[in-house]
Amino acid sequence: MVISIASQKGGVGKTSSTISLAAGLARKGKRVLLIDIDSQANSSKVLLQNYPQISKQQTVFATILERSPLPSHETSVPNLSIVPSHILLSNTDVELTTAIDHREERLKKELDAVKANYDYVFIDCPPTLSWLTINAFTASDKVIVVVSPGYFELDSIVQISRTIKEVKEYFNARLELAGFLFTMSDPTVNSKTSLQILRQTYTGSVFNTVIPRNTDLRDAHFNKRDIFSFNAKSTAALAYNKLIGELFQV
Ligand SMILES: Nc1ncnc2c1ncn2[C@@H]1O[C@H](COP(=O)(O)OP(=O)(O)OP(=O)(O)O)[C@@H](O)[C@H]1O
Ligand SMILES: [Mg+2]
Repeated sequence: MVISIASQKGGVGKTSSTISLAAGLARKGKRVLLIDIDSQANSSKVLLQNYPQISKQQTVFATILERSPLPSHETSVPNLSIVPSHILLSNTDVELTTAIDHREERLKKELDAVKANYDYVFIDCPPTLSWLTINAFTASDKVIVVVSPGYFELDSIVQISRTIKEVKEYFNARLELAGFLFTMSDPTVNSKTSLQILRQTYTGSVFNTVIPRNTDLRDAHFNKRDIFSFNAKSTAALAYNKLIGELFQV
C-alpha cells in the first residue's frame, strides 16, 4: 500500500507523522519504504546520519528529473528504507511544467517496479500543490491529510481535497482520501474549536486518534531518532502507535 502524507499548509506535522508511521510499522516487523519528495529533505536528514554526503544522483532527484530507478538507502531503523530528497528538487516544477512526457507518472513508474518489496510505502510531500505532489498522488493508493489547529486550515483543506479529486479524475482512478489527521492538539480553546469544526465539516473522515502537541517529537528528530527509539513512553509515541492500530490494524 502506498500512502502520501500531505497538506497544502507548511509546518503542520507531515514529516513528523511520516517518520512516526513508517518507523512504528517497521518496528512491528513490516517492510517499509519512506520516499521524501520535499526539497527541504527533513525526513532524509532525520533518518540518514550520512545525509550531507549523499549526492543528488542518490536521491529522488534522479527519478524525477532523469527518470532513473529509485535509489533507496537503509536507515538505522530495522526494516525501514528511505529514498532521500535533495535541495535541487526545488527547481523541478519549472522543468516538469515544460516536460512533454507523462510528467505526473515519473515517480509511479519507478515505484511500481519496486513496491512489491514493501508492505507499506509512505511519501512525505512538500507543503505545496506542485507537480511533485501530483507525482506523489499519482503513485499512491491513499492520501492522509494532516491538519493542525488554526483558523485558515479549512480553506487549505478545500484546496487539497480538490487536488485529490483532480488527480483521481485525470491520472489515478484508485486514489482515495484515507482521512484527516489532527496533530499538535493541545488544551487551548483554539485547538478544541478547530477539531470540533473539522469533525463537523468532514464527519466520518477525521481519524479518531489525535496527535498531541509534544516537544519530545521535535527533540527526537533533532537528535536524528524516531520517536519510538527516543522516548517510547512519550504522549506522541503512544498516539502514533494508537494511530497505527486504527489505520492498519497492527
Ligand atoms: N505533535 C507535535 N508536537 C509538537 N511539535 C511538533 C509536533 N509535530 C510536529 N512538531 C514540530 O513542528 C515543526 C513542524 O513539523 P513537521 O516538520 O513535521 O511539519 P511539516 O508539515 O512536515 O512541515 P513542512 O510543511 O515544512 O514540511 C517541527 O519543528 C516539528 O518538530
Ligand atoms: Mg515536512
